Amino acid sequence: MHPRASFYIETFGCQMNERDSETITALLEKQGLEPTSDPKTADIIIVNTCAVRESAEAKVWSRLGQLHASRQGDEPVFVLAGCMAQLPETVERIRKKLPYVKVVSGPGNIHKIPELALKAMSDAKPRLYTAVSPPRTGVSRDESSQILPEGLPRMNVPGVSAFVTIMYGCDNFCSYCIVPFVRGPQVSRHPGDIVREVEDLVQWGYKEVALLGQNVNAYGLDSSVPEPERLDFAGLLRELNKIDGLYRIRYFTSHPRDFTREMVDTVASCEKVCEHFHLPVQAGSDRILKAMNRGYTKSQYLDLIGYIYEKVPGASITTDIIVGFPGETEEDFEETLDVVRKARFDGAFTFIFSPRKGTAAAKMKGQLPRSEKSRRLQRLVEVQAGITLEKNRALIGSEVEVLVEEPDPSEPGAWKGRTRTNKVVVAEGGQESSLVGSLVSVEVREAGQWHLKGPIKQVLAR
Ligand code: SAH
Ligand code: SF4
Ligand code: F3S
Repeated sequence: MHPRASFYIETFGCQMNERDSETITALLEKQGLEPTSDPKTADIIIVNTCAVRESAEAKVWSRLGQLHASRQGDEPVFVLAGCMAQLPETVERIRKKLPYVKVVSGPGNIHKIPELALKAMSDAKPRLYTAVSPPRTGVSRDESSQILPEGLPRMNVPGVSAFVTIMYGCDNFCSYCIVPFVRGPQVSRHPGDIVREVEDLVQWGYKEVALLGQNVNAYGLDSSVPEPERLDFAGLLRELNKIDGLYRIRYFTSHPRDFTREMVDTVASCEKVCEHFHLPVQAGSDRILKAMNRGYTKSQYLDLIGYIYEKVPGASITTDIIVGFPGETEEDFEETLDVVRKARFDGAFTFIFSPRKGTAAAKMKGQLPRSEKSRRLQRLVEVQAGITLEKNRALIGSEVEVLVEEPDPSEPGAWKGRTRTNKVVVAEGGQESSLVGSLVSVEVREAGQWHLKGPIKQVLAR
């Protein structure tokens, strides 16, 4: 044991990884290690990685090199955690070129990090510890599952909004995506464990939870929870909606194929569930959607969006889009722009297709040159930016409900929070005492691409 050892952690990738980093932190703290924000002095340096695109991996490699270079002369223990850890090429590269990395741990094995890191610290002879799940061979729940044991510690720090993982893995195998390979088969957590975790968070003062899964609409559809206790996602939302003291429920990510009309009705009827729908469309052309293995057509997607706008007044809709999928023609791309214009998204995360080794799309014919992919991205970003701005400006003059998360870091006396529709708001004025965790009503006077701004009219709840 090293009672005074310190650790530093850096996180790449999605909310799932952020949540995992919280668990890693809590586990190490429980072992008596001390968190530090200074990588120059830490005894253990953990990098929690993302494998979704080549650029994500490149960032990790360059950051590792940088961190290592800044520590020439002493020997902190480097830990590579997260999705990249599940790729055999990662382990190979570490063995060949990065001898300073001493622990590699996949997402399903993060609870082993404290033990392995401490072992590595006291090793006389350097060696590499790997804690990864077996590679995935089928679509069923098998030995490649990456479920964390229940009962791992949570950081008991005050906060307003917390992530809650409700399921692990993914069974969709969208043809471009590495996630089902690195995160394993879909496994839902027991609803009782989730309800208990959210109740604890509310006890600690949290006001909002964001439920996490690669495809939350398929929650409970796998057989990991025994039948009589199993709930589907709508059922889970209804249970969580009953928790006193909780103001808001969010969820990421939805799959349009599994987002039923009943789901929309459930969102509409549960007052805590926010009117924000993140529905990755990925592409607009039916041919490309089919090649992506998404399981819906452009018109089915637009029908769903239409139903949401009709049933949930004031709803915001955001999306993910990939440009330059293999074989995507200019006409196919125009279909994507058409969806963007028709759906009138509040915002979009846009990506250039990145071939991932082992996925079906990486082997497809018709890979596009980088320059063409960039041109399409540029155009898409411009079209979407105009729509986002229009939609935000339409809110000028209205009052929005904001959950305050923190004092605004750049404007003294102002607060920062989000609307139920997930738009960032700078709320001006109000009391001198802290409004963090309060619900306030804000009159929108200014609207930009990334935020709304205006004076606080009223404190709705403290
Ligand atoms: N499970 C979620 C998120 C997956 S990763 C979902 O299904 O929406 C987040 C986004 O990254 C995806 O929605 C997709 O738009 C993008 N993405 C995934 N693989 C990619 C690849 N190989 N190249 C480019 N973008 C990719
Ligand atoms: Fe990847 Fe598709 Fe699963 Fe999302 S639903 S994680 S895009 S395979
Ligand atoms: Fe990346 Fe893994 Fe999330 S690959 S997007 S960190 S699930």
